[in-house]
Amino acid sequence: MKVALIGMGSVGRGVAEMIAKKDLGLTITGIADSKSGLISDRGINIAKVLATKKKTGMCGDSTIPAIDVIKNADYDALIEVTPTNALSGEPATGYIKAALNRKKHVVTSNKGPVALHYKELKALAQKNGAAFRYEATVAGAIPIMHTLEHGLAGNEILALYGVLNGTCNYILNRMADEGLTYAQALMEARELGYAEADPTYDVQGIDAAIKLVILANTIWGNGVKLEDVDRTGIDLLTADALRLAEDEGCTIRLIAEACPRRNLFRVSPRIIEKSHPLVTQGTLNALTLETDMAKEITMIGRGAGSVETASAIIGDLLFIRDCYVQRA
Ligand code: HSE
Repeated sequence: MKVALIGMGSVGRGVAEMIAKKDLGLTITGIADSKSGLISDRGINIAKVLATKKKTGMCGDSTIPAIDVIKNADYDALIEVTPTNALSGEPATGYIKAALNRKKHVVTSNKGPVALHYKELKALAQKNGAAFRYEATVAGAIPIMHTLEHGLAGNEILALYGVLNGTCNYILNRMADEGLTYAQALMEARELGYAEADPTYDVQGIDAAIKLVILANTIWGNGVKLEDVDRTGIDLLTADALRLAEDEGCTIRLIAEACPRRNLFRVSPRIIEKSHPLVTQGTLNALTLETDMAKEITMIGRGAGSVETASAIIGDLLFIRDCYVQRA
């Protein structure tokens, strides 16, 4: 299957590396970052592009804009992994629409377009007989969307609770375990590359709320928006509050929760027992789904990272290959 890759940040490079390393039957015929772009119908030399990117910050000498790669390259599926803009959703939304209008399948890790334009993009994909998949947008490597779509098909999802932001989880763990201040722990998380470009998105609970919106729309199709989520971050939390919780055998986690029957859509720091399944270490994410038939299911895994996010993207691509491209 031929793919075009737009975005060469840490996620894009992880996807390119895994496609080059593994024998997945995927050929990259178009590639672009914010400054450069290449098209080759016979397949792009990924090792060369990655080396050039490392050396010059660009994919190569050619300055074809990303939108021209999307409109002109020969591919079956677009991989859209440019940075998230949660306010406008651009330029990613324009890229996704351009590909869907060409009847190309789309896989994205970009939270902006999915949180802001879910219904519109799903409808456009359906109209064009294309797939629009976004497993990587929520909880990185944890296959939440595939589980909802296949493993839990036929179940009613009653509610969900989760740790959906790895940066906050890291900060809370470091404050509790090492007695670091909030500022020290945040600095570490930034240095380790966990935080968003603007870390206020992480610590004010915006990133977790965006992921909650994506999950709610996927599961319930209820048109929930970011402003509908009742949100409190961890940025005002003190080391004393954590210590008090620890004294009681508990700890604090930033929990995202949704239950439409109670009109509950909330992200907030919660005191929970240390033995609770949502108490995870480091940057791990966790999600509990409450369902009518399967009852409670909890999934734990890596919520961010280059190769971890590539895992979710490649899962979506191979699903498209098996269910759309090979059947066409
Ligand atoms: N900044 C995000 C997090 C990255 O810390 O979870 C993945 O969306």
